[in-house]
Amino acid sequence: MKRIVILISGRGSNMEAIVRACAAESWPAQIAAVISNRPGAAGLAFAASHGIATAVVDHKAHASREAFDAELARVIDSYAPDLLVLAGFMRILGNAFTAHYEGRMLNIHPSLLPAFPGLHTHEKALEMGCKFAGATVHFVTAQLDHGPIVAQAAVPVLPGDDADALAARVLAQEHRMYPRAVRWFVEGRLAVDQGRVQQLDDEAQAFSL
Ligand code: GAR
Repeated sequence: MKRIVILISGRGSNMEAIVRACAAESWPAQIAAVISNRPGAAGLAFAASHGIATAVVDHKAHASREAFDAELARVIDSYAPDLLVLAGFMRILGNAFTAHYEGRMLNIHPSLLPAFPGLHTHEKALEMGCKFAGATVHFVTAQLDHGPIVAQAAVPVLPGDDADALAARVLAQEHRMYPRAVRWFVEGRLAVDQGRVQQLDDEAQAFSL
C-alpha cells in the first residue's frame, strides 16, 4: 500500500475527488493524512469525517518560510508518505522542501502551463483573449508552477465567461484528471525522462471536454 499525504489550504474539492476515487477504485494506496496551512480550511472536515488523520501547520505561527517548511516536512514525514499531493495548497515552498520530496510530489495548477504560473490564472487567460484554458498536473520542482507535466486538461473559453465561470469549467476537469494522475503514480505507471513524463500504458495524458 502506497501512502499519500495531501496538502490543502481551503475548500479541498480536489482532495475530496482523490479520496473518493481511491476508495471507489480500490487503489493500492491509502490517504495517510490531510494537512492544511490554514486552521479553518473547509476540506479538513471532509477528511476527518472520512476517518482520515488531519493536521494543521499554520504558516502564521512561524517566523520564517524556512521554519514553516521545516515544521511542515516534520509533520508530513511523521505519516511516512510515498507521495505528497498538493491540492489547492497556496504557499510557496522553499528549495530544501522541494528537494526533499523531489520525484514524489505532485501539484495541480489551474492553467495550461507554462502559461500563467502564479495567481489569478483565469483572469489572465480572459485578459489575454485565450480561446482555451485549463489545468496542469505536474511534478513539483524548486521553480514555482514548473516541473515535468503529468497531465493537462483543456476547456474552451466561451463568450461571456467571467473568471468564476471559467474556474468552474476548469475545476470540473481537475476533478477528473487529478485522481487519474495520482493513481498512475501510486501504480508505478509514470516514467520521467529528460523532464518529460510518459504514461506507461499509453493512457491519454491530455483531457478535454
Ligand atoms: C484549484 O482550482 C487548484 O487548481 C488551484 O486552487 C483550486 C483549489 O480548489 N490551485 C492553485 O491555484 C495552486 N497554485 P480545491 O481546494 O477545491 O481543490
